[in-house]
This record gives sequence, structure tokens and C-alpha cells, in this order.
Amino acid sequence: MDLETVRAEVDALRWYHTIDLGSGVVTKGVDNTPERLPRLRLPADLSGQSVLDIGAWDGFFSFEAERRHAARVVASDHYVWHGQGWGTGKGKAGFELARRVLQSKVEDVDIDPLDLSPERVGTFDLVFFLGVLYHVPNPLLVLERVSSVTRGRLILDTVVDMVGISRPAAAFYPGQELNSDPTNWWGPNHAAVCGMLRAVGFTRVEVLDPPKSAPYRAARAVYHALKGRNPLRTAYRLDRAVFHAYKD
Ligand SMILES: C[S@@+](CC[C@H](N)C(=O)[O-])C[C@H]1O[C@@H](n2cnc3c(N)ncnc32)[C@H](O)[C@@H]1O
Repeated sequence: MDLETVRAEVDALRWYHTIDLGSGVVTKGVDNTPERLPRLRLPADLSGQSVLDIGAWDGFFSFEAERRHAARVVASDHYVWHGQGWGTGKGKAGFELARRVLQSKVEDVDIDPLDLSPERVGTFDLVFFLGVLYHVPNPLLVLERVSSVTRGRLILDTVVDMVGISRPAAAFYPGQELNSDPTNWWGPNHAAVCGMLRAVGFTRVEVLDPPKSAPYRAARAVYHALKGRNPLRTAYRLDRAVFHAYKD
């Protein structure tokens, strides 16, 4: 594929992930994905490991695992690959184009997280569950399925809500309460995420972003409310957090 053809095909798609495809071609993702990478603290070297990326969308994190020398990487998705939600109309074309341009060996499985099982996909040393938990109507049920295919470590990134409340709690978004997006359902707090992970069989859970102090959250809430993102009261309780959960 020559560079001009690659550019034209890339520009014709609406991207979620920002992916550097080489030779100066970078997808124009709405998500600044490289910026999110350090917070996840992915292992620097994945040699010999199998990786499953659940909710892979355009595949940024799957390609990143391959770049870090994972022995096998499987990208899985269903919802946006079938044109639901924001990805309407594009489906899996972005993932497939990026894979082709990067000459990647990442495999793909079209499966909803609720259908994951060792029988359907096998088990993996490392599983990514990034930005998906708050989108599913039945988070505990989905985490059971995620746990069933994780034999080593799970890296989970999620919106957290009800931050500052010490008991396990979750906000429910039956409408468009979070970011005016009807595909958001639940915002659990840190204690609820840890509790759910233990309930589905993880023996050790590390919280990479513990709750911030009340004054910090108040200042940030004012900033967000002024920007019109979320109302003050919602923004005060909201954050994003990363968890590493283990089976050892
Ligand atoms: C915000 S994107 C995250 C993509 C990628 N993992 C990342 O972190 O950049 C949300 C992902 O959740 C999936 N998703 C959204 N709603 C879902 C639902 N109701 N059931 C299952 N998956 C869903 C989408 O297909 C999409 O891959």
C-alpha cells in the first residue's frame, strides 16, 4: 500500500483512537489515547505473555501490547464493531485498517463481554478491560466473565463516581446523566470496584489512582462545571481510576 493510499483510507474514517501508523500518518482520534498510556502502567516487557484486550475498538492497546513483545494478542469487541454507539457506520474498519498498515499479527474475536468464557476464547496471562465497565448495564455479571478468562493480571480502567464515600457505592445513570451519553450506566466508587473484583475471584487488587482530596475535587468540579461538562454536584464525585487485579 503506498503512502497516499494509506493517508486517503485513514482520512476517510472516523477514528476513536489516536494511533501512530508510521511514516507520519496518525489517525485523528477523538480520544487522545497515547496520553492515557502512562496512567495504565502496562508492563514494559510482555515477552512470552498472552494478552486479551476486551473492548478493543480501533485496537490502540492491542497494538501497544504487541509492540511490547507479547507472544499473542487478541482484540475483542462487539458493540462498536457492529456500529452501535458512537462508532455508528464504521464498525471494525478502523481496527482492520490499522492492523493492515502496522502489519500486525493481532488476532480478533467478535464477542460481547457477557459471552466471554474459557471455552469460547481461552484464558490469558494479561487482560485489558479499559473504558468498558461503566458502559455495561450488568457490571458484576460482566466482571465474572472477564475473570473467567484471566489467569494472571487484569488491568481495568473505569470512570469512578461517588468518590469520597467510603462504603462501596455506585451511581446509576438511567438516562444521559454522565457526559450526556446514554451508553453510560454505572459509576462505581473505588471500594465498589475493589469489592466486585474480589467477588469475582481476584485475590489481590491494587488501586493505582486512590481518591483525591475533597478540596482538589471541589476545585476540579468548578472547572468542569464552568466548561459545561457535568453539573457541579456530579463532577465533585467523578473521576477516572485504574486497577490492577491478580489471581495469585
Ligand atoms: C470508551 S470505549 C473504550 C475503548 C478502548 N478499550 C479504550 O480504552 O480506549 C468503550 C468500549 O466499550 C464497548 N461497549 C460499549 N457499550 C457496551 C455494552 N453495552 N456492552 C458491551 N460493550 C460495550 C464498546 O464496544 C467500546 O469498545
